[in-house]
Amino acid sequence: MKIQGLAAVVTGGASGIGAGVVKVLAEAGAKIAILDRNIELAESTAKAVGGIAIACDVANDESIQQAFASAQEINGPARILVNCAGIDTARKIASHKTGAHAIGPMQRVVDVNLVGTLACCAHASTAMLDLDVLDEDGERGVLINIASIAAFNAPNGQSVYAASKAGVVGATLPLARDLSRYGIRVMTIAPGLFDTPLAGTMDDKLTGQLLRRALFPQRKGRPDEIGALVQHICENQMLNASTIRIDAGFF
Ligand SMILES: NC(=O)c1ccc[n+]([C@@H]2O[C@H](COP(=O)([O-])OP(=O)(O)OC[C@H]3O[C@@H](n4cnc5c(N)ncnc54)[C@H](O)[C@@H]3O)[C@@H](O)[C@H]2O)c1
Repeated sequence: MKIQGLAAVVTGGASGIGAGVVKVLAEAGAKIAILDRNIELAESTAKAVGGIAIACDVANDESIQQAFASAQEINGPARILVNCAGIDTARKIASHKTGAHAIGPMQRVVDVNLVGTLACCAHASTAMLDLDVLDEDGERGVLINIASIAAFNAPNGQSVYAASKAGVVGATLPLARDLSRYGIRVMTIAPGLFDTPLAGTMDDKLTGQLLRRALFPQRKGRPDEIGALVQHICENQMLNASTIRIDAGFF
C-alpha cells in the first residue's frame, strides 16, 4: 500500500521503538495517532510530526475502544496499526533469594504485551472490514505487531516476558488467516536489542553479554531501523502472516 495520506495508529508511540515508527511513517505521509498511557510524552512526540496523541491503556478494553473512536473521528479510519506498547519484566520463576514469581506482575505483562496487542488488532481490523479497498488486489489495511527475539531465545529471568512475546508470534498466522478475506495483512517484527528507555533499564553487564551474542553489528539497534522495516512491510504486499527478526544475527 502507498502510505501517503493514510491514517496510522501506533500504540506505545510516545517513546522508543514506537516513536521511531511514528517518525518514519509521518515522513512517508501517514496521518499519525499515538495511543499511549504516557499522554504527556505522547503529546510531545505527536506534536513533532503533526500527529495526535490519545491517552490509552492497551490492557483495558474500554480505554482501547474510546481511544480508537477518538483517533478515527480526527484522522479517519486507520489503514495501518503498529502495536509497540509493551512492558518488560526480569525475574526468575523461582529462586532461594526471591521465592516464587508472583502472579500479579505475570498477569500485567501478559495483559499489556499479549492481550493488549490482540485487543488492538481486533479493534483496528473491525474498523477496516467495510472500508473501500485501496487497490486492484483488494487490500484494506495492515496490522504490525512488535514482539521480541525473546520469543525464540530469552535469557534467564525472562520466562514471563518471553511467553507474552511468543504469544504474539504464535497469533500472527491465525490473525492473518482470519483477516485475509478482507484484504488485511498481519505481520510481526521480533527486535533484538534496541536503544530505548526500556532497554536502558537493563544493567551494563547484561547489555554487554547480549550485544556479544549478535553476529554483526554488535551495537544496539536504532528505533528508526525498525521504522524503516515497518514502512517496508506497509509497502510490500507480499509480506503477510510471518515474523521478521531484526537482531543483527543474535544467536
Ligand atoms: N528496546 C528493545 O531492545 C526491545 C527489544 C525487543 C522488543 N521490544 C519491544 O518493543 C516494544 C517497545 O519497547 P521500547 O523499547 O520502545 O520501550 P519504551 O518503554 O521506550 O516504549 C514503550 C511505550 O509503550 C507505552 N506503554 C506501556 N504500557 C502501555 C499500556 N498499558 N498502554 C499503552 N501504552 C503503554 C509506554 O508509555 C511507552 O511509551 C515493546 O513491546 C518491547 O517489548 C523492545
